[in-house]
Amino acid sequence: MLENLRSTLRFQPITLDPTERRLERAANIDDLRAIAKKRLPGGVFDYIDGGADDEVTLGTNTDRFGRWEFRPRVLRDVEHIDTSTTLLGREIAMPLVMAPTGFSRIATSGGELDTSRAAARAGIPYSLSSMGTRSVEEVAAVCDGPKWFQVYVWRDRGIVKDVVQRAQAAGYEAITVTVDLQTLGRRERDVRRGFTLPPKLGLGTIIDGLIHPGWTLDFIRSEPILFANLTGSDQGDGTDAVALADYIRDQLDPTLDWDDVEWFRDIWNGPIVVKGIQTVEDAKIAADLGLDAIAISNHGGRQLDHAPASVELIAPIRDAIGDASQLICDGGIRRGTHIAKAMALGADACMAGRAYLYGLGAGGEVGVDKALGFLRDELVRAMTLLGVKSIDELTPDLLRDLQMGSGLT
Ligand SMILES: Cc1cc2nc3c(=O)[nH]c(=O)nc-3n(C[C@H](O)[C@H](O)[C@H](O)COP(=O)(O)O)c2cc1C
Repeated sequence: MLENLRSTLRFQPITLDPTERRLERAANIDDLRAIAKKRLPGGVFDYIDGGADDEVTLGTNTDRFGRWEFRPRVLRDVEHIDTSTTLLGREIAMPLVMAPTGFSRIATSGGELDTSRAAARAGIPYSLSSMGTRSVEEVAAVCDGPKWFQVYVWRDRGIVKDVVQRAQAAGYEAITVTVDLQTLGRRERDVRRGFTLPPKLGLGTIIDGLIHPGWTLDFIRSEPILFANLTGSDQGDGTDAVALADYIRDQLDPTLDWDDVEWFRDIWNGPIVVKGIQTVEDAKIAADLGLDAIAISNHGGRQLDHAPASVELIAPIRDAIGDASQLICDGGIRRGTHIAKAMALGADACMAGRAYLYGLGAGGEVGVDKALGFLRDELVRAMTLLGVKSIDELTPDLLRDLQMGSGLT
């Protein structure tokens, strides 16, 4: 009897490392989100997870991928799947870019160092935010993969020029100019919590901190969190806790226009990505200006609520601009199948923010590895089951548009 039991039962080895133990049951990005939600104080999780107003666009960014159904092809020899592709003239391991996200050290003390190292390991570009909490040089020192620098256009152009040139000197390969932050979208979760960057200590935060001791110990032990690329400038580097809305209103330039985008050609020698395009008309202007890539983006639903879901703009923009600029679909990516659909619709790559931030919040650098691993494995599996071996074989005939009823054969 005991012999029988022994031969049928296999005991799982016990994982001693607490981070690995926390992560081992996660099967997808949503599971990482659930773990991050438990591990992070409420205000921190909501800062990452939340969107503007009623969070309609936050939802549709992901949900509207459901508009298309796959038309899988079979019996096509899919033994070797190659997810590599070329973006801005450089080969990358899969069509994914880590989106710029400000203030990553709020999730773990490693912050941008953790996320950029994971990007390099995965062979994909890492975008450091202007509002990053590690400097361009600190990230360059640990990340030997492709690096992009995201630019917010401060009122003081001297600061913009200085940081862009520092990025160039540190070996960053592209800049991403974010153009959808004329004012800060109202993220009501942050308003309700009185959220500031860095978090201010009040009774609520102290209680929240006690309930989340892992995060709190890490936060207390690490050096103060600052906007690392702005230290020493008059810009406000985060030494004083600020409500993000006030900071953006005071520091960012709302007069920004297309001439300013052109100005970057004088101060930056390399590809320029414009991030925040939400209509065919603006995509055409960007393409006519010869910008290297257009990131279709509504800032992950954090700016104008009811802005269109990024995925729905891919095909119309591709139709309108042809091959004039590369196209990046940013917003809502939680699955490898989302990446496969975006590519089939005409994108050259996707960008994801929360997907890796959930990993960071759930388990630091290992959690980011896990998040990128899920997306890569899911993409490989989707390609295998679709009958395609390479990214350029992801074409519109693999999709049926449930809204238009097209592609039904
Ligand atoms: C916590 C957080 C911080 C962000 N910070 C920035 C930023 O500093 N600069 C920027 O251009 N976009 C920023 N974004 C937007 C992302 O670059 C990206 O557009 C968005 O996350 C895409 O949607 P997804 O999270 O559904 O992938 C941020 C997004 C999040 C979630």
